[in-house]
Amino acid sequence: MILDHFQVIDFNKKLRSWYLKNHRPLLWRQTTDPYKIWLSEIILQQTRVAQGTPYYEKFLLQFPTVFDLANADERDVLRQWQGLGYYSRARNMHFTAKLVVNDFGGDFPETAEKLAKLKGLGNYTAAAIASFAFGEQVAAIDGNVYRVMARLFGVKTDILSNEGKKQFAAIAKELVPSDNPATYNQAMIEFGALQCVPVSPDCLICPFNDICYAFEFKMQNQLPVKAKKGKVQQRYFNYFVIRQHGKLAMRERLAKDIWLGLYDFYLIESTTLTAVFDDLVYDDFLADLLPKGIIEEMPKLYTHILSHQKLNVRFWRLEISEEGSIDLPVGMAFYTEREVEDLPKPILVDTFLKEERYL
Ligand code: ADE
Repeated sequence: MILDHFQVIDFNKKLRSWYLKNHRPLLWRQTTDPYKIWLSEIILQQTRVAQGTPYYEKFLLQFPTVFDLANADERDVLRQWQGLGYYSRARNMHFTAKLVVNDFGGDFPETAEKLAKLKGLGNYTAAAIASFAFGEQVAAIDGNVYRVMARLFGVKTDILSNEGKKQFAAIAKELVPSDNPATYNQAMIEFGALQCVPVSPDCLICPFNDICYAFEFKMQNQLPVKAKKGKVQQRYFNYFVIRQHGKLAMRERLAKDIWLGLYDFYLIESTTLTAVFDDLVYDDFLADLLPKGIIEEMPKLYTHILSHQKLNVRFWRLEISEEGSIDLPVGMAFYTEREVEDLPKPILVDTFLKEERYL
């Protein structure tokens, strides 16, 4: 035990008073609806508050309850998610919404332990929902909270290791009070987001600078300890934007790869950036298509960073002048501008379409 019983009480008192003075009145803090809290937590796993809030509002306008989400078409769910990235989170939410409606009559389980069994909910999200919506005395430990605890208590174990997770969970369990655990959790998250920030925290105004290990030993930059991520994989995408009669050929991505369920163009992936057009015509479909239209290479190289991949993307414009119908590969179809607008697309594809005035 790092703090004794009285120190824990004192810590909680100070944290609470800091929170009451400093917290932001965020929308999801003004509800105990587990559905809305769930949505906010999933969005905030990948996006900062300022960028995530408009998505939160838009999503709730379209799908105000778990029933609306459960009944939605997956395409519409992905369309609402467009721009947030990590689309598997949206698909998991849709899956879990259907399960909550079909198996539990629309009522979420009320404990972190049960919530964590649902697809797409990790321990953090499950604890956040259980405490914010149902008042369970359970600690929600996100990246912010790891940082606060690592610095305050001088924990040097890698926060991503199993051992680290265990150690931090044990400390958090001692700290979370029975009285209003929801406010405690919001306060820890907010304290990490506003005061105990990753870079250059202003420790002179911190209410805990009298007990903070990192402040005492000037280790703010070393804590928390986080193992380096694996190497980033480089990928090279060559997209062919095929248009005939004003319609664009697109297909839904179905392979177990990035962007599952989103729509993109005919794609040839190459192993280097230098793949020139001559290499690409070895592709049978393109070889058949080329005499039927005009091909133009777009000068801009687009790059897109995902968690473990960097995409290097080039586009070729292929305007088909032949009047007759074209045999597209299985799964591809022509879509009008209006339809393309409504399809869920990777943000990179959407950006290309807008920059090149297809939309
Ligand atoms: N990040 C993750 N959860 C959050 C919350 N509830 N409030 C603010 N930022 C957050």
